[in-house]
This record gives sequence, structure tokens and C-alpha cells, in this order.
Amino acid sequence: MKVEIETCRDGEIAIVEYDYARRDPKEKPMILDVLLQAQASAIPDLAFRYGCRARNCGVCTVDLNGQPRVACRARAREGDRISPLNTLPVLADLVVRRDGVARQMRNRLVRSAPGNDLNKEPPEDYNELTACIECYACL
Ligand code: SF4
Ligand code: FES
Repeated sequence: MKVEIETCRDGEIAIVEYDYARRDPKEKPMILDVLLQAQASAIPDLAFRYGCRARNCGVCTVDLNGQPRVACRARAREGDRISPLNTLPVLADLVVRRDGVARQMRNRLVRSAPGNDLNKEPPEDYNELTACIECYACL
């Protein structure tokens, strides 16, 4: 299965074609599987982030055919193009700067945090914020 991976080194963008080798004929790989195999075989210095591999940590988000997707839970298909999230500055390949968003979130969390009193119900928007996995797909 052929996919295109957008790389960005020192501001220079290139499209690398990668032919994913299915581990068995029925395998339906996720985008993260494709990236891991590409890095292990053809593009050893390919930069991307991942953590939990279970849609919990939110750091693996990339653009898939121009739409933000959590890479560990997005199925790869023939001809897909994988590129970095286009809403944040690119550091290298598929890795983007996330600290600007965290700074804005911090101000909001400080205002709505419940403090140390565990008997006090937190405000509703605090629960909404803690449900966010910070994948930044909604940016
Ligand atoms: S609110 Fe945005 S950043 Fe949070 S989980 Fe949903 S899409 Fe991801
Ligand atoms: S690796 Fe954690 S959400 Fe994808």
C-alpha cells in the first residue's frame, strides 16, 4: 500500500513515497503503524510523535489528506497523504510546536481549577477541559 509522507527539514518540504508492507494480507494498518514501519525501514530519521497508541495521549495527531486525525486510530488507505498538522508551526517532519496552546490552556485552567478542597464540586467547564486529550485536532 503506497502512501505519501510529507517531510520538513530546515523549512524545506518534500514528499516521500512509502510502500507499506502489510504484515498479513488482512491487516488494516493505522497511520501510526505506517509511520513506525517507514521509520524502521526506509526513513530512519523520520520525525513524528506518539505515546499511548490508544487514543489517550493525543500527541500523535497528523493531517491525513488535509484533515486532522489521531494517527494511532486512523486507518491507512492507498494513496493517503500524511502531513503535519497545518494549524501549528512545524519543528521537523510531522512534529509540531504544541507549547503555545498549553500556555493558553494554563490561564484557563488556573481560573477554573477547584483548588485543594476535594469536597468541593469543580465547575462544569473544568470537567470539559479534563476530558480533552489535547490532540489539537479541533484547532
Ligand atoms: S477538544 Fe480538541 S484537542 Fe481536545 S480532544 Fe477534542 S479535538 Fe482533541
Ligand atoms: S499515541 Fe496516544 S493518542 Fe495516539
